[in-house]
Amino acid sequence: MAETIWDALVPVYEKWAEPTSAAFAEAALDRAELCAASAVLDVAAGTGALAVAAAARGHGVHAIDNSPGMVSRLTERLESYPGSSAQLMDALDLQYGDDEFDAAFSMLGVLYFGPMAVKALTEMVRVVRPGGVVGVVHWASPVGGGPMFVPLVRALDRLGDPEARGLTIPVTNEFLEGGDVEHVLGEAGCVDVWSEKVERESPMPTPETFMDELDLFFQMFPQYRTAVSRHRDRLREALAEEVRLMAKGKDGHPLAQVNIAYGRVPR
Ligand SMILES: C[S@@+](CC[C@H](N)C(=O)[O-])C[C@H]1O[C@@H](n2cnc3c(N)ncnc32)[C@H](O)[C@@H]1O
Repeated sequence: MAETIWDALVPVYEKWAEPTSAAFAEAALDRAELCAASAVLDVAAGTGALAVAAAARGHGVHAIDNSPGMVSRLTERLESYPGSSAQLMDALDLQYGDDEFDAAFSMLGVLYFGPMAVKALTEMVRVVRPGGVVGVVHWASPVGGGPMFVPLVRALDRLGDPEARGLTIPVTNEFLEGGDVEHVLGEAGCVDVWSEKVERESPMPTPETFMDELDLFFQMFPQYRTAVSRHRDRLREALAEEVRLMAKGKDGHPLAQVNIAYGRVPR
């Protein structure tokens, strides 16, 4: 499978995105009420926030992702859990037979696929046994794409440069409401669908280091690249200020919200 833009992001993702994913993974697993040693599939697993948490709880995990870099990192992390592994695979074409798993999850994964989300969820429903669980986690914030993008969008707007402002996070503005996530699970064939909004703290770089730590992530946006080339120092200051302004939780980190939604595969 070819390289993807995610390959270069593995270290920055593991350092700055996965801790937030990991907090939501624990919340998702707590609510799924799986039997001991369940067969669990993690779709678009990334560096393995949910896969590693599920394996640590004693489940047998198959984690799939289409980024060779992500799969390579996750293979290392799952080595200490016999019966769990990571595979390079497209979420839209799962290489598993019908009914092979007790549960399938996708955290901050298949709901990024926009119109192809239903197809990916239908694949997850296909490989889970009747009565099993399909769970998804997706951002519930107005910007979409996670809390680290909030200061970015606001700082770019502050610069007043028409070519650097107006950033929207492509496709992730879909499915931000719990009802929308429930609806798409129903469309994919799930029954007994429900969702819950969950908030956790999201560790982030300090205001002073925010731009340098997340530069690799933000380089994917042309507005950011324009702003860096034209207004580097003002952008750094605006980002720092926007990070300072974010609402913080009791541990001093910005807050992030997701919807965790579940459905069952019909019996
Ligand atoms: C935002 S990350 C989420 C990673 C992880 N689930 C988490 O919550 O931290 C999205 C992941 O989806 C993967 N991905 C994107 N398109 C995919 C596809 N068609 N099939 C499998 N994985 C895909 C990317 O490689 C990336 O690792």
